[in-house]
Amino acid sequence: MCGIIGITKGSGPDDGVQSVLDVLVEGLARLEYRGYDSAGLAMVGPTAADGMWRVRAANGTRSLDDLTKRTDDAPTHPSAGIGHTRWATHGRPNEDNAHPHADCTGRLALVHNGIIENHIELSDELIADGHHLESETDTEVLAHLIEAHLAAAPAEGVVGAVRSALSRVRGAFALAVVHADDPDAIVAARRVSPLIMGVNEGAAFLASDIPAILGLTHDFFILDDDRIAELRPGAISVTDLEGNPVEPEPLHVDWDLDAARKDGYDDFMSKEVHEQPKAVADTLLDRVLPDGTLVLDEVHITNEEFRSITKVFVVACGSSYHAGLMAKYAIEHWARLPVEIDIASEFRYRNPVVDEQTLIIGVSQSGETVDTFQAIREAKSLGAKVLVISNVVDSSMAREADAVLYTRAGPEIGVASTKTHLAQITALEILALYLAQARGTLSPADARGLLTAMGSLPDKVETAVSRSVDVHAVAEHYKDSPSFIFLGRHVGYPVALEGALKLKEISYLRAEGFPAGELKHGPIALVEPGTVVVGVATRTPVWEKMIANIAEVKSRGASIVLVANDGDEETARHADHVLWVPATEHLFAPIIDVVPLQLFAYSLARLHGLDVDRPRNLAKTVTVE
Ligand code: F6R
Repeated sequence: MCGIIGITKGSGPDDGVQSVLDVLVEGLARLEYRGYDSAGLAMVGPTAADGMWRVRAANGTRSLDDLTKRTDDAPTHPSAGIGHTRWATHGRPNEDNAHPHADCTGRLALVHNGIIENHIELSDELIADGHHLESETDTEVLAHLIEAHLAAAPAEGVVGAVRSALSRVRGAFALAVVHADDPDAIVAARRVSPLIMGVNEGAAFLASDIPAILGLTHDFFILDDDRIAELRPGAISVTDLEGNPVEPEPLHVDWDLDAARKDGYDDFMSKEVHEQPKAVADTLLDRVLPDGTLVLDEVHITNEEFRSITKVFVVACGSSYHAGLMAKYAIEHWARLPVEIDIASEFRYRNPVVDEQTLIIGVSQSGETVDTFQAIREAKSLGAKVLVISNVVDSSMAREADAVLYTRAGPEIGVASTKTHLAQITALEILALYLAQARGTLSPADARGLLTAMGSLPDKVETAVSRSVDVHAVAEHYKDSPSFIFLGRHVGYPVALEGALKLKEISYLRAEGFPAGELKHGPIALVEPGTVVVGVATRTPVWEKMIANIAEVKSRGASIVLVANDGDEETARHADHVLWVPATEHLFAPIIDVVPLQLFAYSLARLHGLDVDRPRNLAKTVTVE
């Protein structure tokens, strides 16, 4: 989420090939997939009276175009510049919140990708010390903190000030700073959020990813966590947080530009599946405090209001509906509230019983799906409280709702939801625990235990994603199978539905998901020798019953593929092939168990030679009923 770029060429003669401005604008265009809520850039050096020059625009996908039309008063031969394309997390996507942010002197500019967790505490301090902050962002505190440290120890320069400022900061960052007093330099730093650098004879570059600066140099370096870099024309020096010099790690790159936009993956779906650990981690970030309590600053519904809720409705479509179905189990179990889950297009036309004590949770990656939008609007008019889970800041649904809980998966380009789906389940699980905390239905010790278990989810998702080759090998066995049945029980049921949806939408194969216990009431008639049954058989309280249902289809000749927990040989005995996943607390299991099913669908679609990013007849955002 968010893209940053920087270039320093120095104040020597312009080589006439590409100006600082061209490099920034082209780089931002290549970074736009990381977010396009707003864009901005800042330049220093000759001349524009040799101050810091900055332009920002917040006009969605047109932000970058708007910027380029507003450069008439820019410096003619700038030495260095930085740019940013934003995917809003803290603060609306408007010009004040767009990066670069400036300090009080107006001579320092800073861009940032990440989240500063203790920004409220820092901004209170800075304001008390007389700083004037203009935005609602978590980022702006960084510019003022650096300003304060530079004023206190000018001899240590911008690098020293960045180092001192970072000692106060908690959270994730990739940042770049330019200062009109040292116009040949860019100072950069990184923790968690990605930052790569490049250098050639007369310039040095940095960016959130390789595509942004591909073609400008062949010598790339990775900036590691907790390192500070000083970029000058033709040179990069790196130090640790104590100021000790360190060698930056070289990076070999042999991509062409098209491959690079996909970070070397064959398609966006595969890239986005591999981004899932980060999507889950970012969605958890700064919402779980070290003492095991949850904070949801953006949810403007009081605990008292949450306590007055008597019933929850979840409304959503497609994969978002499946995420909502998973949440039903968690909310009922932890928060002891009855939950109804509805396909959004059905909800509004069936006269639902909704009143002031009803909480409506609208789940939508895009926040624009018309069915879900109209469903929450209808519920709001009936007096219900509306909370939206969305991946897009300030989407129509986010604006309509009383409260929003944003997933932080970054922009998803592949039409089939993957990383946004995992982020939705994560956000809904957080919400379930938050409701339980507010309503006092879970002891603090139990809540702490669950939140600790949540912390290990990104690593477990990473393990599941890393097994794509194993899943592909299983998929190869079923390449010629025309139809698939997906079975699950309890939280495995929505996982089965999602596995079937992924398979049908990208591979066009017949795939149906059923609750395994329902099989005997009809669907088992579909089973004949050779029918492929994919079962979600990780350990839940109903595992034995699930295995009994698998035995029923196996005895009728079905080929069995089971999702099973690592090392669970007892489950493996019932399967022809196993898709292994790490175990976790059973109500969190969908976040991990769905991963091999995404990979299974992906492999089958690729084996059939299909375009996984643009499946036929589908659109990423459905804005018609
Ligand atoms: C499936 C998929 C769709 C969406 C559905 C809702 O892979 O992407 O089923 O989940 O169209 O979209 P949002 O979440 O934007 O409301």
